[in-house]
Amino acid sequence: TFVVTENCIKCKYTDCVEVCPVDCFYEGPNFLVIDPDECIDCALCEPECPAEAIFSEDELPAGQEKFIELNAELSRDWPNITEQKAPPADAEEWDGKSDKLQYLEK
Ligand code: SF4
Ligand code: F3S
Repeated sequence: TFVVTENCIKCKYTDCVEVCPVDCFYEGPNFLVIDPDECIDCALCEPECPAEAIFSEDELPAGQEKFIELNAELSRDWPNITEQKAPPADAEEWDGKSDKLQYLEK
């Protein structure tokens, strides 16, 4: 399955949702997640993310392991998103910042 990781937080560009053939992205206030039970591993979303926040769970960067459980957990609570929307006004400022998990809104 594919996993949305830390750099999506406060960037939330939403390019990813447009290409998913099974519409398995779910939207929170400042982050998106993938439902691991619905993801068919097509890999289409990975290159679409301007923040490079999407990885196969087999190729997660060091320190991002906790996002496997966060995607599974939050996708059960958050609403589905299938259409791209405008990112936060300060998305570019946050792109690439470290330790963003503390800002995750649920
Ligand atoms: Fe959707 Fe494919 Fe990305 Fe899984 S890998 S979330 S099915 S676009
Ligand atoms: Fe997040 Fe990248 Fe999608 S920033 S919303 S995973 S395009």
